[in-house]
Amino acid sequence: MDIDRFQYFIRKISVKTGIDLKQYRDNYLRRRIELRMKILGIDDYLNYLKILNRDKEELEKLISTLTINVTEFMRDKTPFEFFMKFILPEIAEKKRRAKSNLLRFWSAGCAGGEEVYSILICVLETLGNGWSMSIYGTDIDENCLKSANNGVYKPEQLKNLSSKIINKYFVKEGNLYKIKKPLKKYVRFKRHDLTSEGPVSKYFDAIFCRNVMIYFNEKQKRKVVKDFHNALVDEGYLIIGKSETLPVKSKNMFLPVDLREKIYKKSLTSHFNYNLHKSKLKTLK
Ligand SMILES: C[S@@+](CC[C@H](N)C(=O)[O-])C[C@H]1O[C@@H](n2cnc3c(N)ncnc32)[C@H](O)[C@@H]1O
Repeated sequence: MDIDRFQYFIRKISVKTGIDLKQYRDNYLRRRIELRMKILGIDDYLNYLKILNRDKEELEKLISTLTINVTEFMRDKTPFEFFMKFILPEIAEKKRRAKSNLLRFWSAGCAGGEEVYSILICVLETLGNGWSMSIYGTDIDENCLKSANNGVYKPEQLKNLSSKIINKYFVKEGNLYKIKKPLKKYVRFKRHDLTSEGPVSKYFDAIFCRNVMIYFNEKQKRKVVKDFHNALVDEGYLIIGKSETLPVKSKNMFLPVDLREKIYKKSLTSHFNYNLHKSKLKTLK
């Protein structure tokens, strides 16, 4: 009975929000939803549904609770150090050889924009300006995107940044820090659901998708990883969260670059297979 109510609740909320909640594990959903219900003193899914049908603010709170978005600048630090030390110089060298100054990055599941601005700071600190750069930040949660566009952060979110970097890239507003306006020209934020939509764009030099896929089931993860493969340039980089792994069935799409930092490079094997397949087809004709 409770299971039926829960499933009914999930179906209704998925339709109402346009977010496919089936992508999340049931236990996870129950925990997060019951957290909100407890706050409101409700112990029945159908009663909670009634509230959600009339209270838009509560619906937004539920979405934020389901799509947890706590993060900070340069989260875990070392993947960003690796990015600056090894990946960016290699990308820059490749671009110079190709006589291109275009740099494209994607932070998929960008929460409040911390990862997007972290990538931006890494690029400007490592390669300087003079590049034509686009950094896409996408998230399923509209509230996150609003915060990302505002670019205002609490001091504890900047704890991995030196005061020199903070002074260079932020202006202090009371107790908060606001990203400097001219930096906004490099970033674009967009609502995007990784599990139900295709890649937000293409030809990315690197994609960061950190601490997002942990909430997905295997099938969803495979779909998302395939999209990343399609959205990257040849030998483009994929950086996932430190506690995450690529789905076993998707591993041939990427070569490990540094397994401790969870950094991978797009493998062209699937292209080779495809070409092999094509040439086989030709010989068959
Ligand atoms: C824990 S935060 C990760 C933020 C940042 N990438 C990091 O590593 O700190 C997870 C983010 O994924 C977003 N998210 C969850 N499901 C998503 C989906 N299906 N499509 C896009 N973003 C999603 C959440 O809204 C949340 O902002």
